[in-house]
Amino acid sequence: MDVLSVEGGRRLAGRVHIEGAKNAGLPACVASLLVDEGVVIHRVPQLRDVSTILFTLGSLGKRVVRNGGSVVISEDGPLAAEASAYSVRKMRASFLVLGPLVGRLGRAVVPLPGGCSIGARPVDLHLLGLRALGAHVEETASAVTVTAERLRGARVEFSFPSVGATEQLLMTGTLASGVTEIVNAAVEPEVLDLVELLRAMGAEIEVEGRTIRVAEARLHGAEHTLIPDRIEAGTLLLAGVATRGAVTVVDVRPDHLEPFLAVLRAMGVDVAIEGGDVTASAAGGTRGVDIRTAPHPGFPTDLHPQTAAALACAAGTSQIVETVFEGRYTYVDGMRAMGAQISTDGRTATITGVNGLRGAAVEAPDIRAGAALVLGALAAHGTSAVSGLDKIERGYDKLPDKLQSLGANVERREA
Ligand code: EPZ
Repeated sequence: MDVLSVEGGRRLAGRVHIEGAKNAGLPACVASLLVDEGVVIHRVPQLRDVSTILFTLGSLGKRVVRNGGSVVISEDGPLAAEASAYSVRKMRASFLVLGPLVGRLGRAVVPLPGGCSIGARPVDLHLLGLRALGAHVEETASAVTVTAERLRGARVEFSFPSVGATEQLLMTGTLASGVTEIVNAAVEPEVLDLVELLRAMGAEIEVEGRTIRVAEARLHGAEHTLIPDRIEAGTLLLAGVATRGAVTVVDVRPDHLEPFLAVLRAMGVDVAIEGGDVTASAAGGTRGVDIRTAPHPGFPTDLHPQTAAALACAAGTSQIVETVFEGRYTYVDGMRAMGAQISTDGRTATITGVNGLRGAAVEAPDIRAGAALVLGALAAHGTSAVSGLDKIERGYDKLPDKLQSLGANVERREA
């Protein structure tokens, strides 16, 4: 397991280019299952999760060619209806192949994704949507078998605006007859990026607030460039904030970052936007704030741990209420090991800012908690060792190089 060795206490400053969004790229790759023509996707980050989804598509019969940041996905022969446990267990987004396969083949067998460190992560809303479209769903403890003679458009109302379930139904709805109406849909930028790709593929989709309507249409191949990764951008801006430096993220969509930038401003961070570049400077330090995560356009749960790490050294107390994932507090133990004063009570984390953190040996429990521990280590005085770098790199492409380019003293080493 690789370790990131961090010599903390240095102010980070400079410009860093942001990759295409992981959470837009994964559903975009899956959307290629909807057609037998070629789909080309640009600005695809070089991440293990992307390799996993491309492996899954290959195992289902797609031909996948990667060329730097572009991926060309075409169909060489008949698709398989069964996805391997390996890929779905490894990465839950592989579960999104279910609806497209049923729409194309009339049948699909996909292993159930396990929970993970941040929560139970059920798929009941995915299955509710498929049943509403007329599919027959059979669940065992480890997999689901879904069959459908012909999918028929229907109205589906979600009890929670689930990103994955919205994407599952969006894609499946393009292969159903009539109109599929998703009520209380997720409208994260990554979901709307999938809508753009599906429209480029010929889908007729209307988005009105949290209601999305998908009409039956003849689909074809397409080419699409992913939106930039707002979570990577927020994480790197926080690397500057946590070290009282000034980082500029380049070629991003500032409008996608707005809920997060509003919190940075409330923390006393100076935020400057110039076209697609955003700079966050915190030379004068920061103050505590209260945050409540929520589905977009609320504060993104995927930036909760990293923001908590920056608040660990803010002046005053902060409270973060996590409303999306019950297990989002996996960063707390590692931050405490560095001297942070964080306590949790139910869904609320209370952070009392301290003057300085101290280096420690910590382990990344998951992608975003791991990123938070890296930020804590960058802010801490002394040396830290953050193990589980492979988990962090599921969501961050070339993170050590990017941090070094901003002046951080970090080094990857074998455990
Ligand atoms: C997506 O996960 C992202 N992953 C997550 O990013 C992100 O944190 C999450 O959306 C919320 O924004 C990808 O896009 C690949 P959800 P997803 O379905 O689709 C409950 C990262 O670090 N729920 O919106 O799994 C669920 O338990 C990852 O990049 C049901 O109850 O998220 C959770 O409490 C982590 N039933 C809430 O909804 C369902 O059928 C949000 O889950 C589905 C979800």
